[in-house]
Amino acid sequence: MRRNGRNGQDGQATQGGVWQYSPAPEAREIVKLQPRYGLFINGEFVEPRSGRYFETINPATEEVLAEVAYADAADVDRAVQAARHAYEQVWSKLPGKERAKYLFRIARILQERSREFAVLESLDGGKPIRESRDVDLPLAAAHFFYHAGWADKLEYAFPGRTPRPLGVAGQIIPWNFPLLMAAWKVAPALACGNTVVLKPAETTPLTALLLCEVFQQAELPPGVVNIIPGDGQTGAWLVQHPDLDKIAFTGSTEVGRLIQKAVAGTRKRLTLELGGKAANVIFEDAAIDQAIEGIVNGIYFNQGHVCCAGSRLLVQESIADLVIRKLRRRIQLLRVGDPLDKNTDVGAINSLPQLRKIERLVEIGVQEGAELYQCDCTLPNKGYWYRPTVLTRVSTAHTVAREEIFGPVLSVLTFRTPDEAAQIANNTRYGLSAGVWTNKGSKYLEFASRVRAGVVWCNTYNKFDPASPFGGYKESGFGREGGVHGLAAYVAF
Ligand code: NAI
Ligand code: MG
Repeated sequence: MRRNGRNGQDGQATQGGVWQYSPAPEAREIVKLQPRYGLFINGEFVEPRSGRYFETINPATEEVLAEVAYADAADVDRAVQAARHAYEQVWSKLPGKERAKYLFRIARILQERSREFAVLESLDGGKPIRESRDVDLPLAAAHFFYHAGWADKLEYAFPGRTPRPLGVAGQIIPWNFPLLMAAWKVAPALACGNTVVLKPAETTPLTALLLCEVFQQAELPPGVVNIIPGDGQTGAWLVQHPDLDKIAFTGSTEVGRLIQKAVAGTRKRLTLELGGKAANVIFEDAAIDQAIEGIVNGIYFNQGHVCCAGSRLLVQESIADLVIRKLRRRIQLLRVGDPLDKNTDVGAINSLPQLRKIERLVEIGVQEGAELYQCDCTLPNKGYWYRPTVLTRVSTAHTVAREEIFGPVLSVLTFRTPDEAAQIANNTRYGLSAGVWTNKGSKYLEFASRVRAGVVWCNTYNKFDPASPFGGYKESGFGREGGVHGLAAYVAF
C-alpha cells in the first residue's frame, strides 16, 4: 500500500489523499476466448441461418472480445423446434429424480469453473470481479442446487395437487446479471420439467454461451436448453413464436409492455420482472454508520445496474445533514476502475447508450434544482465510466426521483414522520424493493407492511437467496422468481 496524492503518479484512479492499494488484477488467462461463438441449439454450437455475427466488447476498455452469432426468425424457429422435440421425447418423460441429477451436476461444474466464469462476467459486462466472484457465481450455483432439490419433490411444493410442466419456455434476460439471470430462469424451468430457449442480452452474451459448455459437460440431453444470442428483434421473434407455452422476461418496463401486448390472447403464460425505483429509508434511530454502508451497497453495487437498487434515499429530517455529510465522505473512498482488480468497488458502465442515459438523467436532475455531488476519482481514459453520484435537494416531483436511472446515482429526499416515509416510498409507479433502517422492530414491521414492494430489507440491503421469492408490484412486473412461488410460474395443475 502507498499513500497517493490527488494525482497518482501511475495514472491509477486515486481519491483525495486516501490510502490506495497497489493494483491487484485477477489473471484473465483462465478464460479461453474463442474468436467466434455460434448459436447453441440441440446440444451443439451451430452456425446461424442468418449468416450474421455481432461483436461483444469489454466496456472497461472498448476492446472487442469476440464475435457472436445473431439469431434471426429462422434460427429462433430452429431453437424452438429443438426445445419442443426435447420436451416431448426426453425431458417431460424423465422422473424428477433424474432431472435433479442433471441440475446438481450443472451446479457442481459451475462451482468448479467459478473463477473462469467470474473473470468472463467482469470482462464482458464491466462489473467488479469482487462482485462476480462473491455474488453472481455463488448465487448462480446456489440456484441450480436449490432447484435440483425441488425437482423430485414438486408434489410437496403443491400439496394435494399434481403439478405438470408447461412445455417450452422462451426466456429473455438483461445485461446486469447475465449468468445469474440465466440461472434464475433456466433452473426452475428445468426442475419443473420444461425445456428452454433463452436469449441473452446483446452486450453480455458470453457467460450464457460458456454455460452451454457446462450443459455439454453435464451431458444434459440435447435441446433441453437452447441459447440464441441476438438483439431486441431476436427477442421479439422469440416472443411471437407460436409454439411456446411460457415467456419469462427480465428487463425494461417499456419492453415488458410490448411483450405483454404480444402474448395477450395466446396460450403463453407470462412472468415479467421489470424496473424499480426503490426507497431506502433511514429513520433517526438507525445505526447510522451501518446504514451508510447499506446505502452505499444499495446504490453503487454493480454500478447501480440493479433493478432493486436503493436509488431513492429517504432520510429523516433530523439526521439528514449528518447522513449526507457521512455519505459524501464515504463515496470519496470508493475505488472506481479496472473491473478485474480485486480492490475495485465500482466498475464500468455496461454500454455507451446506458452511460448516455445516466448522463442525461443527471443533467435533468441538476436542471430541475438538485444539488450534485460526485466522487472526484480519476477515471480511466478508455471505456464507459460514471462517478458515484449523490443528488440532494430532490423532491418527489423531480425526474430523478421518478425515473429509473440504472446507474451509480443516488437521489436524496427527506421526510419527517413514518407516515410520510411510507407515502413517499409508495409514490412511484414501481414496486420491486425497499429498505428500512431503524433500531425498532415495530417500526420496520409497520413500514414493511405499508410499502407496496416485492421485497423489503430491514437493516440490510441487496440480500438474495434462492429460497426467497423475488418480484414486483405495479410497473415492476408480476410473477415471482425463487422459492416455491417461483416454481409455480413453471407448472400447471
Ligand atoms: P431492454 O429491456 O431493452 O433489454 C432487456 C432484454 O430484452 C435484452 O435481452 C434485449 O435484447 C431484449 N429486448 C429488447 N427489446 C425487445 C423486444 N421488443 N422484445 C423482446 N425482447 C426485447 O433494456 P435495455 O435497453 O438494455 O436497458 C434500458 C433500461 O431498462 C435500463 O436503463 C434500465 O432502466 C432498464 N433495465 C432493467 C433491468 C432489470 O433488471 N429490471 C435490466 C436491464 C435494463
Ligand atoms: Mg460485452
